[in-house]
Amino acid sequence: MAKVRTVFRCGECGAGSPKWVGRCPVCEAWNSLAEEAERPPVDRPGVVAAGAMERPVPIAEVDVAQWSHRPTGVSELDRVLGGGLVPGSVTLLGGEPGIGKSTLLLQMASAGAAAGATVLYVSAEESRPQVRLRAERLAALRPRLWLVSETAVPRLVAHVDEVAPDLLLVDSIQSVYDPVLGSAPGSVGQVRESAHRLVQEAKSRAMSTVLVGHVTKDGALAGPRVLEHVVDTVLAFEGDRHHALRLLRAVKHRFGSTHDLGLFEMGDAGLAAVPDASGLFLADRRPGVPGSTVVPTMEGHRPLLVEIQALVTQSRLPTPRRSAQGLDGGRLSLLLAVLETRAGLSTGGADVYALAVGGVRIAEVGADLAVALAVASAVTGTALPPDLVACGEVGLGGELRQVAQTERRLAEAARLGFTRAILPFSAPLAPPGVEAVRAATLGDAITSAGLSVR
Ligand code: TYD
Ligand code: MG
Repeated sequence: MAKVRTVFRCGECGAGSPKWVGRCPVCEAWNSLAEEAERPPVDRPGVVAAGAMERPVPIAEVDVAQWSHRPTGVSELDRVLGGGLVPGSVTLLGGEPGIGKSTLLLQMASAGAAAGATVLYVSAEESRPQVRLRAERLAALRPRLWLVSETAVPRLVAHVDEVAPDLLLVDSIQSVYDPVLGSAPGSVGQVRESAHRLVQEAKSRAMSTVLVGHVTKDGALAGPRVLEHVVDTVLAFEGDRHHALRLLRAVKHRFGSTHDLGLFEMGDAGLAAVPDASGLFLADRRPGVPGSTVVPTMEGHRPLLVEIQALVTQSRLPTPRRSAQGLDGGRLSLLLAVLETRAGLSTGGADVYALAVGGVRIAEVGADLAVALAVASAVTGTALPPDLVACGEVGLGGELRQVAQTERRLAEAARLGFTRAILPFSAPLAPPGVEAVRAATLGDAITSAGLSVR
């Protein structure tokens, strides 16, 4: 009898190792290796022989009609996907437990079925009555929406055969398994093979497929980074569970850009689109508090006004703390160094906390000036004017540089009642209603904002 060989596989990156080690030699994750049965390499001449062989054609003659986006009917999702799901595409919807993945999936199912598509919702974690009860609350009881509670992949495929859906939804990929493999559901081998199988089914049937995937504490997709390579699109569903706001963004997208941000609010009737995102981000702002500024930032094509807060306190630690939430930590350190060297504002012996309010993450340098001004305001204990926004990149010499799409940013600021903007000299004209306060350096900007540094 053939001996079943086992291999130890990393749950993070999928790398194999003949023996157990405490740390994955490839991705250096700790305690991530688990034993699984190794399948003998399969000789698969049939795979190449099967199906019609493709012939090379001139690139302009490749038929793309099938590859057009079909709206899902969930507007914020369509925004992120660049118009909707492409038939035959496989999308992974990742997010932490409780963030609202199943809710979004069911709303997608409902919208699709309402628009005339046949939808199969496979729940591998919840029973059918559980899903039905939720669907009732979401007004998602549609005749074209089929529901099955299933965990075994071969039976799942049989259900697909029976229903022949246009849209297949699987909640979640970590809970389905192929009994042939022998390893536990959720193990890397199982997740990878199940996903491979579902990708094949999606492509061969031109069936759009969405798989839910759980993510770990640090935000990586649980286990299979390998999964990210298998699917066409990876969506990350994020937010603070204690806030109603949810952010949806594409981390990888074979059929469009990864720029656009979708915004939802979780309420009693499920997820609702947030039309006025800036208003929501600024809803709880208390003007007149030192250490607060507002930056008109761009999330993809979408201008967003976000409050930046800074707190500077005497440190009791040998190495003072620098904490950045929703902002880049390295960038914060750089700005503190520029503040000290170029603007004479030292935070040397102090702990510095800086954050972007509302659970949003700002990755662009356009927020530099606002972050630096928030720190300067916190250090001097002087609040900035409540009707002021600031936008610009700060260079190592303390000089200010303009950032892309200044007009759109300022138009959004004007819409929300801001009347003044601190800008680099080179920035374009401000739209009506906004007075541009131009500054060449960070030091000038601090003075213009009414802060005095000794
Ligand atoms: P869920 O979609 O189950 O999250 P996930 O699948 O990502 O684990 O929903 C998460 C939370 O959302 C749950 O704690 C209850 C809440 N919720 C609402 O507030 N309103 C609703 O209409 C629904 C369906 C859920
Ligand atoms: Mg769920």
